[in-house]
Amino acid sequence: MTTTASLAFIGGGNMAGALINGLIEDGTVPDRITVAEPDTQRREQLAARFGIHTTEDNSSAVMSAGIVVLAVKPQVLKEVARSLAPALAQGRPLCISIAAGIRHAALQRWLGEAIPLVRAMPNTPAMLQAGATGLYAPESVSEAHRNAAEHVLRSVGIVVWVEDEALMDAVTAVSGSGPAYFFLFMEAMEQAAVDMGLPAETARLLVRQTALGATRMALESDLDLATLRLGVTSPGGTTERAIRQFEEQGLRTLVNDALKAACERSRELSEELEKE
Ligand SMILES: NC(=O)c1ccc[n+]([C@@H]2O[C@H](COP(=O)([O-])OP(=O)(O)OC[C@H]3O[C@@H](n4cnc5c(N)ncnc54)[C@H](OP(=O)(O)O)[C@@H]3O)[C@@H](O)[C@H]2O)c1
Repeated sequence: MTTTASLAFIGGGNMAGALINGLIEDGTVPDRITVAEPDTQRREQLAARFGIHTTEDNSSAVMSAGIVVLAVKPQVLKEVARSLAPALAQGRPLCISIAAGIRHAALQRWLGEAIPLVRAMPNTPAMLQAGATGLYAPESVSEAHRNAAEHVLRSVGIVVWVEDEALMDAVTAVSGSGPAYFFLFMEAMEQAAVDMGLPAETARLLVRQTALGATRMALESDLDLATLRLGVTSPGGTTERAIRQFEEQGLRTLVNDALKAACERSRELSEELEKE
């Protein structure tokens, strides 16, 4: 399986658009990409933006594909997968599911047991090629197929593999939902900045640039997060006073509880989505 394999996307929504953009930026020839999407306007937009092929027929899209990316909402995936099974059985392309919550075994049943299948959990920064994706495949999936799946998802950011599929719920709680936690924290900081008298636009700029700067320091430094934090925390200073408030009011417990709640919800959603 190489980067020259032709790709079919089933569902041409936001995530498919992000992946197609990433793949083309990464050197995939648009002519090798087909999107199956029911919405005519969306098909036209995708064709105009990327110069790719589009169709409204899912089965015809996968017929000559080497890689099929399942990019529909989880709620419709069972129906879509079952109806694709006969077409997939012919060429047995690598399937990559980006649907939240649907576990490997359930999807494998719907697609057909002989189809190589990798499960991926990307996140919305994939739209800026700054995504973080968790990948899972059982041992039966070959190295070549794993590499091909990794190549697709790496076009929109970093990828990590988990060996135990149960950990995909943790990936969902950390990086899948994660952007929203940072947005919430930034919202709270912006509100506090305005409450202290800063103009809204100034608050907006200061908070977002600070988030970017801190993230870049965390990513680009060899130091751990606690050391970076201590580097901004002079004894008796302003940061120390704020950090003490966060610690005394239980920020760490709150974050721990919130992520565990997200992880639990991810497990529940899997049960709900996979009901026969
Ligand atoms: N967005 C995220 O943060 C995120 C993160 C990780 C994983 N995901 C997963 O990525 C998948 C796609 O999410 P998204 O945000 O890109 O959703 P989306 O924008 O709604 O895209 C789904 C697309 O699939 C199309 N579709 C619906 N039924 C179809 C069918 N039977 N055959 C082919 N296409 C069909 C939809 O068309 P209509 O609009 O006309 O129905 C829509 O264009 C989901 O499974 C989601 O769990 C998303």
